[in-house]
Amino acid sequence: MRDWEKLRAHHQQQVAQTYGIKTTTFAAQTGEIYMLPVFDGEPRLSGNWIVCGDVHLPTTDFDLAERMLEAAKCLNIRNLLIVGDLVNMEAFSQFEHIVPPPPFEVECKVAARFVSRLSEHFETMMLVLGNHEHRLLKRNNGNINATMLGHILSAASGKLQVSAYAYAIIDSYGTIWRATHQRNYSRITGRLGDQLAQKFQCNIITFHQHHVAQLMDTWGRYVVIDGGGLFDDSKMAYVKLIDSNMPAMARGFVILAYGTAYLMTPYPALTDWEVILAGLQKKSEKFDLSLVV
Ligand SMILES: [Fe+2]
Ligand SMILES: [Fe+2]
Repeated sequence: MRDWEKLRAHHQQQVAQTYGIKTTTFAAQTGEIYMLPVFDGEPRLSGNWIVCGDVHLPTTDFDLAERMLEAAKCLNIRNLLIVGDLVNMEAFSQFEHIVPPPPFEVECKVAARFVSRLSEHFETMMLVLGNHEHRLLKRNNGNINATMLGHILSAASGKLQVSAYAYAIIDSYGTIWRATHQRNYSRITGRLGDQLAQKFQCNIITFHQHHVAQLMDTWGRYVVIDGGGLFDDSKMAYVKLIDSNMPAMARGFVILAYGTAYLMTPYPALTDWEVILAGLQKKSEKFDLSLVV
């Protein structure tokens, strides 16, 4: 607000000079230049990535997280993108609680340990923000920024980069993917991703909705993935203690390798881990050989 007032005063001074009017207010005489941010620095990544989101620490499916880590090791993928809702941040929720939430300190300790475990393998780890991280930023009126959040969450390893953005763009061997924790929700699987594909004209991996799906967009141009999450809804009081007509939550993450995205879920009828990992291993061996030649 203060910046705005100063900016307005500066503008008034400019206008006054243009019209030959002398202003006498103190603010108008400061003559300072104020820098406003321009939001055009979204993360732009390249190569092979493990893309996950909706971890919702500490209400997390740690078995699925371990399987994700094993898959990354098996394929030697060293980049991890976490697309929002890494930590629940219950202390900053605007919702009332029906069971006491863990203190923020406990959530931070779990997060530091989780990040540390992942950093044993991943060389690059990036978090883009979800609505649960925004709880902390909003409650503090923006006085805690993404960098400060990074310090809070990555105490154990210092490897996690935190972006102020809620999405990242990945150029994976010439194929463009936008991995996003958009603010909207649709109870219809695939619908939001379809709209985002049309808006941004690229392939989409969407989180936040806790659905899993892989489909082509309405116009058959782009691939849309609902990436699920690493949450464990059986630990979520608001999901399990009360019935609702909300869709059941579905878990998963995405392996983005050589331009193609593979939706990985714990559901055997949907994902055959052995076949996917064996096939990708073969592909990476071939790719490595082609680099040698
Ligand atoms: Fe979420
Ligand atoms: Fe979310």
